[in-house]
Amino acid sequence: MKRIVINSENAKKYFYLESLSEKSNLKSFSCILKEYTEYLFNESIRSMNDHVAKTWLLYDMQTGEISAYMSLIMDAIKLSISEKELHNLKYPFRTIPAMKIAKLAVNSASSVKYKGLGTFMIESAETIALECNINYCAARFLTVDADIEHDKGVLAFYEKNGFIKNDELYNKNRLTISMKKDIYQ
Ligand SMILES: CC(C)(COP(=O)(O)OP(=O)(O)OC[C@H]1O[C@@H](n2cnc3c(N)ncnc32)[C@H](O)[C@@H]1OP(=O)(O)O)[C@@H](O)C(=O)NCCC(=O)NCCS
Repeated sequence: MKRIVINSENAKKYFYLESLSEKSNLKSFSCILKEYTEYLFNESIRSMNDHVAKTWLLYDMQTGEISAYMSLIMDAIKLSISEKELHNLKYPFRTIPAMKIAKLAVNSASSVKYKGLGTFMIESAETIALECNINYCAARFLTVDADIEHDKGVLAFYEKNGFIKNDELYNKNRLTISMKKDIYQ
């Protein structure tokens, strides 16, 4: 079966994004990596109620299933002098505000039908960060800890979506790779 390619132009025809609530029916979601299914089922609501992560669900309009989800949190990253130059930041401090994609996963069944869902979720996170900048609170970067423990390929996925590795790696054991995307460059 030829997959439908989803992008920011056609996504509204097939999907809508809604934030997680106590009433959300999560059962339709199943990710190839069980850790990400379990997070949605067992931790996303608690994280929401503890105000430590806000989860967004992408619903398939045809089936009503959750095709993807992401959890967003506030973040801050330390930039080296050369990194600041690269992003043309003449800011006197090392720490720069960011918004982090703390979790991102696509439903395996949806991946069979659609291509580009992960990319669309990143674009949606970027839109949320831009709206946040305009209306509420500043964030220059989108950040992510690319989970290479479970799949080394995610590094390429984030690179294709404009993320670059951070000079300062917080997680020295390298189960994850700290990455950023400048939402204004
Ligand atoms: C990683 C994930 C979110 C990607 O979503 P997706 O909908 O498959 O990605 P897209 O279709 O938008 O892919 C965009 C590009 O990245 C590539 N890509 C996506 N996932 C990849 C992977 N795991 N390894 C290598 N390349 C990958 C695609 O081939 C595509 O490349 P192309 O444009 O050259 O064809 C999804 O596979 C997933 O849920 N994985 C399990 C959970 C996970 O690892 N989450 C990330 C945690 S940091």
